[in-house]
Amino acid sequence: METGTELKVLLGIGGGIAAYKSCELVRRLREAGCAVRVVMTRAGAAFVTPLTFQALSGQPVRVDLLDAEAESGMDHIALARWADRVVIAPATADLMARLAAGLADDLLTTLCLATEAPILLAPAMNRVMWEHPATQANHRLLQQRGVRMVGPESGGQACGETGAGRMAEPQAILHALLGPGSGPLAGRRVLITAGPTQEPIDPVRFIGNRSSGRMGVALAAAARDAGAEVCLVHGPISVAPPVGVRAVAADTAESMHAAVRSNLDGVDLFVAAAAVADYRPRTTADQKLKKDAAEMAVELVRTPDILADVAARRPRPFVVGFAAETTDLRGHARAKLERKGLDMIAANDVSAGKAIGTARNALTVLWPGGERLFPEQPKDELARALIELIATRMSGGPTTDTN
Ligand code: CTP
Repeated sequence: METGTELKVLLGIGGGIAAYKSCELVRRLREAGCAVRVVMTRAGAAFVTPLTFQALSGQPVRVDLLDAEAESGMDHIALARWADRVVIAPATADLMARLAAGLADDLLTTLCLATEAPILLAPAMNRVMWEHPATQANHRLLQQRGVRMVGPESGGQACGETGAGRMAEPQAILHALLGPGSGPLAGRRVLITAGPTQEPIDPVRFIGNRSSGRMGVALAAAARDAGAEVCLVHGPISVAPPVGVRAVAADTAESMHAAVRSNLDGVDLFVAAAAVADYRPRTTADQKLKKDAAEMAVELVRTPDILADVAARRPRPFVVGFAAETTDLRGHARAKLERKGLDMIAANDVSAGKAIGTARNALTVLWPGGERLFPEQPKDELARALIELIATRMSGGPTTDTN
């Protein structure tokens, strides 16, 4: 239900395959506390049904300008006045051309002429259509008139081509529309590792561990909610990565290391929550190993220490590691904090089936000159508390804390 105090967003849906991503955008706008009304072009309604957007926005969806029944409710001028912001995602080449020409030949273009609200477009089209001089000229003209743009991005396209023209991700559109947010990590870039790694012995066997990835995933969601732009590099996890977080899958320690390295640029905070295998088999058999001997030995070699590598870089982000200990939790964790040169370490007691692979956890968090105990609680609550503490420490919060 609309309360009248939330930001009112009019979302226009043009006729492009990227319209499916706008379903997620509606959800995220509503999660961010916006009231959303959706207007679709006829072509847009051919890609995703109005009923889908009606269910997601909780409001009737309009397509036609001359719809007597709809006009007797909130007419198009009232709708244009209602909006605090207009966002069109996807904005097709045709829609951009009609907006640039000032046409009012359907409800969406009419609303764009009739509104005084700022307009944001998320262009989405085939690469050649995007690069066409006509589209580029319309793009420039709309920008000159004060229309803001988000994207398009480069990459693989639904039409099979690769290049510029892909619609910006919902998270990026949200960011462009609402700004970086007001949380304690607003405007910060965060990279988190999560889950186990699997080090292959042969095509069907691997060395792994019991990590579910829950803590890392909860931290990614908490960092996102704190306003950060989050990338989650994860092993084979048993929970879904959170929406609004860029997820990068990696299965071995080495591939996780490579994924971290290639996503480290501009990162302000690195949290290593993954249970990375410390050793991998020296060789991986091409064929499935047969049990023809009574005994078998697998020779193991060390994997790269991702956390230590990131901590050794200069410049480097704020670096938070995890420690899993069964004895002398505090002593071992503080030694690890110093040895790896971390800004903070969160120590888990993993004795007797605690912490790993479960939904609850307790943490002893240490940093140079301070520590804090977090009693046992659900991992998502724990993650929020830890992110808050990290944000305080990153912004030069109290240097000693021993509660
Ligand atoms: N870690 C990592 N890469 C590795 C191994 C560990 O990034 N190859 C990170 C984990 O994500 C976690 C921390 O390092 O944040 C845990 O280190 P751990 O393996 O417990 O500590 P070690 O220093 O290797 O000590 P030990 O295994 O002897 O307890």
